[in-house]
Amino acid sequence: MATPTVITVKASGTYDILLEKGSLSNIGQTVAERFKTCTIAILSDDKVFPLYGKTVTESLEKAGFRTVCHVIPNGEQSKTLDNVTDFINCMTQAQVTRTDMVLALGGGVIGDMAGFAAAIYLRGIPFIQVPTTLLAAVDSSVGGKTAVDISAGKNLVGAFHQPSLVYLDIDTLSTLDAQVMRDGFAEVIKYGIILDRKLFDTVAVPGSFDLKSVIARCIEIKRDVVEQDEFDHGMRGLLNFGHTFGHAIEKLSGFTITHGSAVARGMIIAAKVARIYGFTDYTEIITKVVKDYGFETDCPYSADALYSVILSDKKRSGSDITLVLPKEIGRCTLEKMPAAQVLDLMKKTGL
Ligand SMILES: NC(=O)c1ccc[n+]([C@@H]2O[C@H](COP(=O)([O-])OP(=O)(O)OC[C@H]3O[C@@H](n4cnc5c(N)ncnc54)[C@H](O)[C@@H]3O)[C@@H](O)[C@H]2O)c1
Repeated sequence: MATPTVITVKASGTYDILLEKGSLSNIGQTVAERFKTCTIAILSDDKVFPLYGKTVTESLEKAGFRTVCHVIPNGEQSKTLDNVTDFINCMTQAQVTRTDMVLALGGGVIGDMAGFAAAIYLRGIPFIQVPTTLLAAVDSSVGGKTAVDISAGKNLVGAFHQPSLVYLDIDTLSTLDAQVMRDGFAEVIKYGIILDRKLFDTVAVPGSFDLKSVIARCIEIKRDVVEQDEFDHGMRGLLNFGHTFGHAIEKLSGFTITHGSAVARGMIIAAKVARIYGFTDYTEIITKVVKDYGFETDCPYSADALYSVILSDKKRSGSDITLVLPKEIGRCTLEKMPAAQVLDLMKKTGL
């Protein structure tokens, strides 16, 4: 196995993100080099565990760790407090202590839940992220946001809890459904638009670049943002580019439009809004990339419908809404404005 790329995050906890191809069977050795022998409670889903569970558990056990596995049905509908409670009960039964660890083997759903369980179990135990989707690799496994969904909305119950290690074997992405992989690219394109023109240009033509380098660059961008604003009081908001409109589209569709597809359309709406707001118009260039990745580009909902969902966002502060708008490709800004202005801008885009 080649030497992994190492990206270090210095937040409230300092940790490494290791990226390599074909490294999964070496996870035990790597974890043993960094942590004392202990019990590792693995949370995974019923799609990922049959593919990679044996490799991970065998490798960890060979390196001297005891493993306990808890597997839940795959998909967002599993990201519940009940499932976290079940996982915690599993850890209790296995007598997992504060010197033991949690390991998330899966996409963003598993990472968010395992991280949350690790944050609250015994008032917090360490955890390792093993992301297996592109979205988890470039986004959710880095930065320490953990959460579950409740009936009032997505990610409304959670905690900041940084992982102790992120271990990414890029080969695991080869088994992803094409649509799940494509959804991850919406986030990759987002990183380029908000902070890195060169990255945007690199990924503009699908399939024309080295995936490992692109993932590493996205992680570096997220690392830089998290190091400056770990607890999301300022520039971390840039990562929401396309998401204010995207979340509304996702919700109005009853989640039949996937997150990536909704964010892709949300980025186009944000570009149109930026133009009306007085910034340079980047709608065409953003729409082209989104289209080239195979995403739909039209929003099926009216400005009024989107606005009603945006207004009901529990995480909104006061009567203002902060939009992330592109000033240039590679430079977005946070623009706080009265909610009514957002509706007006959206209407003027023709929605
Ligand atoms: N914490 C954060 O900062 C953050 C950031 C962005 C998104 N998120 C969260 O991430 C979640 C979405 O993550 P996601 O898109 O990874 O979804 P996901 O975890 O549901 O994975 C998508 C699908 O891919 C399957 N899968 C995962 N890895 C696979 C593999 N290697 N091969 C085959 N199938 C595989 C899963 O079983 C699932 O069916 C949302 O809940 C969102 O809120 C969190």
